[in-house]
Amino acid sequence: MRITKEKRGYGGLLACLLAAGSPMAGAGAALAGDVQAGKAAAAVCVACHQADGSGMAVPGGEPWPALAGLDAGYIVKQLDDFRSGARTSVSMQPFAQMLNETQARDVAAYYASLPPTSHAAENTDPALLLHGERLALHGDWDRYVVRCASCHGPDNTGVGSEFPRLAGQLPEYLGKQLEAYREGARANDPQDLMGAIARRMNDHDISAVSAWLGMQAPEARKREGRE
Ligand code: HEC
Ligand code: HEC
Repeated sequence: MRITKEKRGYGGLLACLLAAGSPMAGAGAALAGDVQAGKAAAAVCVACHQADGSGMAVPGGEPWPALAGLDAGYIVKQLDDFRSGARTSVSMQPFAQMLNETQARDVAAYYASLPPTSHAAENTDPALLLHGERLALHGDWDRYVVRCASCHGPDNTGVGSEFPRLAGQLPEYLGKQLEAYREGARANDPQDLMGAIARRMNDHDISAVSAWLGMQAPEARKREGRE
């Protein structure tokens, strides 16, 4: 009798732990990759994403996004999506396909461990930046453009594995992704969350918000307890 009771108790505890761990835990501690192994596997990535993970945009070329400091669970999801074809890119898919699941987790842990980078402002047109800031922090309710910060975090530095950091990302890359969402070329976002927003944005909105976000500090600001 006693043993049965204890067993049942233990099973209940385990079920609780699993339930508590599953919903928003992203890649989860049990699935955390090995940073050192990831660094070795990233040897083939640096040609495009750069040794410090800061990415690069060559004029007229395809922008290579910054990966440094992105959430590991978000990176794993994108690599899975490139592998399955849910997200397409002629340049990126062959490299995602080179990685098995363990390597994908390792490489994600490695890039997540690097300090996030930001980029010098290229675009300093104050009116454009003001429009970008307004969209990012307040949105445009007349057109149902929801402010970016409501999902991507108060400083747009990302929330969990679901909502990636935008602050400090290359503006060229941000703009290209927003166009891809708008045209349906990128559709791996859950429930069309990004597609629905991007389709309400015009070209001016996209350049403005991309320019402003790219200039923002990649680390969340510290806030006073009550503010
Ligand atoms: C030939 C250049 C190239 C190489 C090499 C490369 N990538 Fe990429 N990567 C890209 C491009 C271009 C994109 C953006 C694709 C798009 O526009 O959707 C990208 C996107 C990504 C993304 C999505 C980032 C985001 O913010 O959503 C991840 C993650 C990524 N690469 C990881 C890797 C890893 C890991 C490797 C090495 C195993 C690698 N890449 C090698 C070009 C490259
Ligand atoms: C309702 C929630 C929501 C709002 C509001 C939102 N996003 Fe997103 N966004 C997402 C999700 C979810 C993803 C990740 C999709 C995935 O898993 O591939 C994403 C991804 C992105 C990406 C791709 C990032 C990368 O690294 O590839 C860009 C760019 C982006 N959002 C820009 C914006 C901008 C600009 C705004 C404000 C105008 C905005 N988002 C508002 C939910 C949102």
